[in-house]
Order: sequence, then C-alpha cells, then structure tokens
Amino acid sequence: MATDHAALLEILQSADQGHIYHFYERLSAPQRQSLDAQVAAIDWTLVSELIKTVVHKPAPFVLPPDVQPAPYFANKPADGSLRDQYSMARQRGQTLLREGKIAAFVVAGGQGTRLGWSGPKGTFPATPVKHKSLFQCFVEHLKALEARFHTTIPFYVMTSSVNHHATVEFFKQNQFFSMPENHIMFFSQDMLPAVGLDGKVLLESPESMALSPNGHGGSLLALHKSGALTDMRHRGITQISYFQVDNPIVRCIDPLFIGLHDMQDADMSSKMLPKEFGKEKLGNFCLVDGKVTVIEYSDLPDDLSEQRLPDGQLRFRAGSIALHAIRRSFVEQLNAHGFALPYHRAEKKVPYIDLATGEKIEPQKTNAVKMETFVFDALPLAGKSIIYETDRLDEFAPIKQAQGVDSPASSCDVTTRRNAQWISAAGVKVPIKPDGSPHAVIEISASFALTREDVVDNYTKIPPIAPGDRVYLE
Ligand code: UD1
Repeated sequence: MATDHAALLEILQSADQGHIYHFYERLSAPQRQSLDAQVAAIDWTLVSELIKTVVHKPAPFVLPPDVQPAPYFANKPADGSLRDQYSMARQRGQTLLREGKIAAFVVAGGQGTRLGWSGPKGTFPATPVKHKSLFQCFVEHLKALEARFHTTIPFYVMTSSVNHHATVEFFKQNQFFSMPENHIMFFSQDMLPAVGLDGKVLLESPESMALSPNGHGGSLLALHKSGALTDMRHRGITQISYFQVDNPIVRCIDPLFIGLHDMQDADMSSKMLPKEFGKEKLGNFCLVDGKVTVIEYSDLPDDLSEQRLPDGQLRFRAGSIALHAIRRSFVEQLNAHGFALPYHRAEKKVPYIDLATGEKIEPQKTNAVKMETFVFDALPLAGKSIIYETDRLDEFAPIKQAQGVDSPASSCDVTTRRNAQWISAAGVKVPIKPDGSPHAVIEISASFALTREDVVDNYTKIPPIAPGDRVYLE
C-alpha cells in the first residue's frame, strides 16, 4: 500500500480524482498526514470500478422472474417431530456454547443519523428503568450465557472510523462491563467516499473526503481484513451469531436457532418475523432460483407484498430482522478469491466543499451517491440457508429513529410489555391500564432471565407490583 504523498497523488490522478489534493498546499503538516492516510486507506481500483458501474451506469432493480416466498421453520410447530427436532437443536446449540464454539458479533459501524444521537449508537441509553446502554445490554446477555454454560464467548464489535475511538473509550470507561478485556475485539470496517453525480469524490473539508462506512455487508470483509477470522480460528470458533446494534432485547445468541442452523449444515441462516402488513419496512425473505434472497420492502411490488393466501395470511410474510447465524468457514470462503458482495446505490444530499470558492455547500437536492453492501446479499451465496421464525415481542424492540415507530419510546414500551407478559405467564399479577397495557415500567436484567421460561423458574423472587411502580429485576 502506497503511503508517500507523491505515490498517492499518482494513484489519485490515474483514478481521475486528483482534485482530492486541491487544497493540499494550504494544509498544516498534521492535516496533510491525515488526508494522505485517508487516501491510502481507500481501494481506488474498487472506487473507479464503482464509479463506472454504480454511479454512471446504475442497473435498475429488476425483479427476478420467479420469486417465491421462502420456507421457514415455524416458531410454534404443530408437528411433534418438528418439536423433537427443536429440542435436539436447542441441545446442539447449548453444546456448541459449552464447547466455546460460538462467537457473538455486533455490527455497530453505522452512523445512526436518524436517531440524532451524537455518540456511537451502542452507547445510547436504551432500557426503561436503569437506562442501560445498548452495549451494556449485549455484554450482560453474553455474561449470563457464559455463567449458565460455564463457557467463554468472545465478543467481536465492528465499528467504523466515524465511531471507533468513541466506542472503545466507552467500553474502557465502563470497565468493559466486567467482561474480561481480552474477550472483546474491536475492529473497523472500510470506508468509501461519497461521489458527486459527475463521478468526482466529494470533499467534506479541505483536509477530508466525505466518507461513510461501506455498509453492513462490509462486516464480512472486515472480519477477514482485521484478523478477526484468524482470531476466531485460534479460539476454536465455528459459528458466528450476528446481530445489529439497535435492539436492546436481542438474543445475542439463541441456542435453538444456532443449533438448528448447525444441524441443518447451513452456511448462513436468518431469523424472521411474520410481517404485520404488506409494506412493513422489513426486508422480504424470498426464494429466487431456489436460493434464499432478501428483497428490500421498497423493491417488492405491491401486488406481491400485499398478496394473501386463502387463509388470509400474507403470502410473502417472512420479514428480516437482520439476525444471522454464520458459519466461520463460509466467511473465509467469501473472502478466499476477493470479496464478492454487490454494491447498492443510495442517492443522498451530501454537504461538500466547492473547489472554486472553498466554501461549504449544503445541497438542497440529491447531489451524491453513496455505495454500500448488504450482509443479506451473502445468503444466496450460501450452500444452504435456513430461516427460523421468532416471536416479535420476545426479541424485537429496535431503536432506529428519534420518534414514532422504532424509537426509544416504542422500544421501552415493547420491552415493558414483553416483561409484563413473561411475569404474568409465571403467575405474578401485573397491574393493567384501561387500554390493556401494563401499569408499571418493568426491566428484567439478563442475569435474572434470558427467556420467559427463566422467569417461571425465578418467580418467587418477583416482588408484588403496584400500579405505577418502576420494577427492576436482577
Ligand atoms: C435493516 C435492514 C432491513 C431489516 C431491518 C431490521 C438494510 C438495508 N435493511 O434496516 O432489511 O428489516 O434492519 O431491523 O440493511 N451498519 C454498519 N455499517 C454500515 C451500515 C450499517 O455496521 O455501514 C449497522 C448499523 O450500525 C446497524 C445495522 O447495520 O446496526 C442496520 O443498519 P441500517 O442501515 O440502519 O439498516 P435498517 O434501516 O435498520
């Protein structure tokens, strides 16, 4: 990799991007160094290729001719033999945990702009009573699993240069939430520059390109480039439990799901939720040429997304909540001959420096293209891929935007409703408001219960709950 300025300038000029050094002469020595480092970190062969294909000649999304709904394993199987299979799968998952063969992997490189939180999204205070951060929720979940299965679970945290330092500092300030420091690995995904509609990379300031992370699909490349895959191999990890940073009640590792995926010899598997309505903003699990493929909600035509079966259910009902079980060897294979996920085009308004005047321009309309890969594009490349239906209330309370659907308030609300349901099912009375919602705010720590069954086992420790109480169980 070239690092000296002259060599970098040559690379940029042959990529027709020499303007990136337009203000170079005016920069201070540290600013020059930082811009050179940015330039050196970018794969310019890839960027030139993407400018040709994704920026100048974008291929419109074409719905494949034969799209079918993807089959899935039902959450509550009517069939006795499937129930037996699930109980074997749970045991398999628990054995893998005991043997220390499963790693947890959170993708936390995104910018979280919709939430309007200035720090890394994982530092957002997410829980209803104790206001624990998302990262704390994950570590506590993993520690509870470690205690239960007398095992070690290495935790890989993917950041990006926009939040790497702040993420690591946050963990340090919180003493890694009592997880041994050498069980947590932080690494950054690659960045890509935003490109103007004329094919020129935009400058965010005289000393910096307008960069953004290369999409969560970049996690599968970053696992390889950072050495995380090698680290996993040394630790004897065979399965990776992948989840997003935005969901405080996610089951970071679900023994049943990962055990089923392992027993089925799948390379990459997914959890799904039945969509509540056709256009719900969840990717759709489909079968295309016999391969599991996610088609984004915006790409599936209305006549398909709204189609119903005779029993009234949506025909395409399997929605993606971006939870995957991934075999380590599959990620190695994906990286063996160059990384091969497709890049998607997102048109955005990106503030930039006008080269002629040096002024910062805040565009009023779309002026740039960002390029991202999506992790679910690896699914059709898998030899085998299974889908398992999960329970919405049990594990989906995402925080994506400041208000409304998928906001901190809705997430706390779902968490309390889930906890109230778990507690009521264990036989403890929860006060109810006239509209049927719990008249208390309830938080359950992972050390108290990871599933509703654990609440039943611990019900004698639950105090009486009066209307309006704020209850924390640990
Ligand atoms: C995503 C999925 C959607 C799914 C939904 C479930 C896409 C395009 N859509 O939507 O199909 O139904 O979650 O909640 O993925 N991230 C990185 N690096 C990046 C970009 C994102 O680590 O470069 C991480 C974020 O930190 C976050 C996750 O990926 O943890 C989700 O990213 P986001 O772009 O917000 O996707 P969603 O709109 O939430």
